[in-house]
Amino acid sequence: MSSMQATATDAFWMPFTPNRQFKATPRMVESATGVSYRTPDGREILDGTSGLWCVGAGHRHPRITEAMKRQLDTLDFASNFQVGHPGAFELAERIASLAPPGLDRVFFVNSGSEACDTAIKMAIAYWRACGEGERQLIVGRERGFHGVGFGGISVGGMQANRRVFGSAMLRADHMRATWDPATQAFVRGQPQIGAEMADELEQRIIALHHASNIAAVIVEPFAGSTGVLVPPVGYLQRLREICDKHRLLLVFDEVITGFGRTGEMFAAQTFGVVPDMILFAKTVSNGAAPLGGVIVKREIHDALMQGPRHISEFMHGYTCSGHPLSCAAGLAMLDVIDEEALLQRVRELTPHLENAAHSLSDAPGVVSIRNFGLAAGIELAPRPNAVGERGAATQAAAFDCGLLTRAPGDTVILAPPFVSTPEQINEMVARMRAAIEKTAASETR
Ligand SMILES: Cc1ncc(COP(=O)(O)O)c(C=O)c1O
Repeated sequence: MSSMQATATDAFWMPFTPNRQFKATPRMVESATGVSYRTPDGREILDGTSGLWCVGAGHRHPRITEAMKRQLDTLDFASNFQVGHPGAFELAERIASLAPPGLDRVFFVNSGSEACDTAIKMAIAYWRACGEGERQLIVGRERGFHGVGFGGISVGGMQANRRVFGSAMLRADHMRATWDPATQAFVRGQPQIGAEMADELEQRIIALHHASNIAAVIVEPFAGSTGVLVPPVGYLQRLREICDKHRLLLVFDEVITGFGRTGEMFAAQTFGVVPDMILFAKTVSNGAAPLGGVIVKREIHDALMQGPRHISEFMHGYTCSGHPLSCAAGLAMLDVIDEEALLQRVRELTPHLENAAHSLSDAPGVVSIRNFGLAAGIELAPRPNAVGERGAATQAAAFDCGLLTRAPGDTVILAPPFVSTPEQINEMVARMRAAIEKTAASETR
């Protein structure tokens, strides 16, 4: 642990981390290749969560690394405020050509949180431009995660992220989560029953607020960060029908699902439902540089293209929106997805991950296993009066067993890189089992 011990840990206030606990027992990684990290003392840690759902093509993919190096040698920075650089235009064209029909305008940001806040602003601005400015309420879902901007936490459904900031939130309401422990505990893929959960949008939320006050409905096609909660067959179609009937914009937050995780470029294509906007981030650049964005239906974009020609039509953007390095990474990632047939690979690996993940059903304390695409959530029974503690302990044990996982609450996640082999997935699951057993054994001592 020599280099780790040399690292002072006080100054860095770590994001989404129990800082005091981490700094008492730091778990560090120093390098990465393919599907593995290395710790400072040379141990291999299999990347069971693609970093943070980002690294679909594997770490330090040579094609992406080379493209980024070339970019740095050509153009390190140019803003996209009133000047432009070719990479951003090229990437936007490529993304537009891959998106569902009708969605062909792309606004770049640097993260999923920014994508969510951007989409909310677009929705509000769109209705105002249409003369329906009272449409301001945003509808999300319990257990939804849309990042940490004030828009994102308002529409998001994670109590812990909202608790401290309640008074600063946007007007939002929430549908119930699609999770039903009574019928879905060990369901493989999409649950067959439960599409009618979507009716709550019409029967409670529209009935309460009136559609004329609602701007948009924002959901993840499947909820990833809160433990892989998969919508029942027909649920997303039903949401689309209700949004059409009442003229609400439907926004898919594809920050996790976009760029391949479900075996198509977007989960909208996998589920066969076309939203009005798609949020993306993470896998678009393979995590190699911060990049996110919103893909927008042409008519929403066009409705905002008005006003004096010398004034920005949409007063929004970030210094690094469409940064040259991020765009170079994004363009290279799209090449890799294409050349290495990564979507096909995800489709082939999906049943393998499903079987491997569900083989954990007899591990101690497992109460539910869910999966979709290359993602699985293994839920453990919470410790009495200590929700999340067992998940956190299992995450730490997994690292010690050589596996990077994440534990939202008491669910541990497996979301392997798309380039994983079946054997590597088996090994991830074996290490997950070892971690679950180790944690259970420590409780009985
Ligand atoms: C669905 C979803 N939306 C938004 C975000 C926020 O993305 P970021 O952390 O890049 O701001 C995340 C992050 O995990 C996410 O899963």
